[in-house]
Amino acid sequence: MRQIDNRLNKMIPELSNPCVLMRDPQRVQDVLRSMERAGSNTVQVISDFDMTLTRFKYNGQRCPTCHNILDNSKLISSECKGQLKELLNTYYPIEIDSSRSIEEKLPLMVEWWTKAHELLVQQEIKKDLLAVVVEESDAMLRDGYEFFFKHLHEHTIPLLIFSAGIGDILEEVIRQAGVFYPNVKVFSNYMHFDESGVLRAFKGVLIHIYNKREGALLNTGHFQELRTRPNVLLLGDSLGDLTMADGVQDMENILKIGFLNDKVEERKQSYLDSYDIVLVTDETMEVPNAILRYLTGNK
Ligand code: C5P
Ligand code: MG
Repeated sequence: MRQIDNRLNKMIPELSNPCVLMRDPQRVQDVLRSMERAGSNTVQVISDFDMTLTRFKYNGQRCPTCHNILDNSKLISSECKGQLKELLNTYYPIEIDSSRSIEEKLPLMVEWWTKAHELLVQQEIKKDLLAVVVEESDAMLRDGYEFFFKHLHEHTIPLLIFSAGIGDILEEVIRQAGVFYPNVKVFSNYMHFDESGVLRAFKGVLIHIYNKREGALLNTGHFQELRTRPNVLLLGDSLGDLTMADGVQDMENILKIGFLNDKVEERKQSYLDSYDIVLVTDETMEVPNAILRYLTGNK
């Protein structure tokens, strides 16, 4: 075990950071070696957005999700803010409750998203104010995001951001951060605006945290285009994110990196069982970035 760890740590020193946990370092080493040998032109990255590419906490304070950016904004009446807060206080503890099964949580998550979207639609939100709201929000990408996006762009590695958040908000966050490069594609919940630019509904099939597999399978065209890239780096923060790569064709290798942000002790074992690398309360992109450097021959 120690020998494996030593070799792996030589390959990627950041994997010995105290926040890194691995169930099977030998598997991590084998997958990384195999992906590196195949070359970065066979790699694609699939990442969740909220609390994976964005920070969970900053200075001890919770950072907002896409939904929270809107919920806390000046576009929402104070009465509606109260109702959205109540939903958050009811359903977020369920989302992170390790004593309930996914089957038990799924209908409750659908209920949360549906109720929240109904409330947002009642607010007659104007499309041209979204940019201002994002600008005024406390949304923060994780430290090291510039390298992550720039490196993928420079090495023409496709990045799919697969989010149960709100696509219009998410795109604005990465646009304002200057990292919405052409190799980035987004699957998310998009808003439908009427001809005067007022929010009337959400488009298409709802994506919530536990139906990303179905969302992936609806987008076969995207994965067909990327069929020459059977090596996948997956980044998530929820156990629901593990199915984001279910649409990938002829997959050869997958390395799953999970950020464990909240309820660490209760959830550690389940994260270790399903993610190859677990990053415990790590607010940075240091480990994913080191892996990308390795996969691109440190160039
Ligand atoms: O991008 P990602 O798939 O992580 O987005 C989903 C996150 O959005 C969930 O983890 C959930 O906590 C959050 N959410 C929210 N408000 C809602 C619905 C979901 O903050 N109304
Ligand atoms: Mg997330």
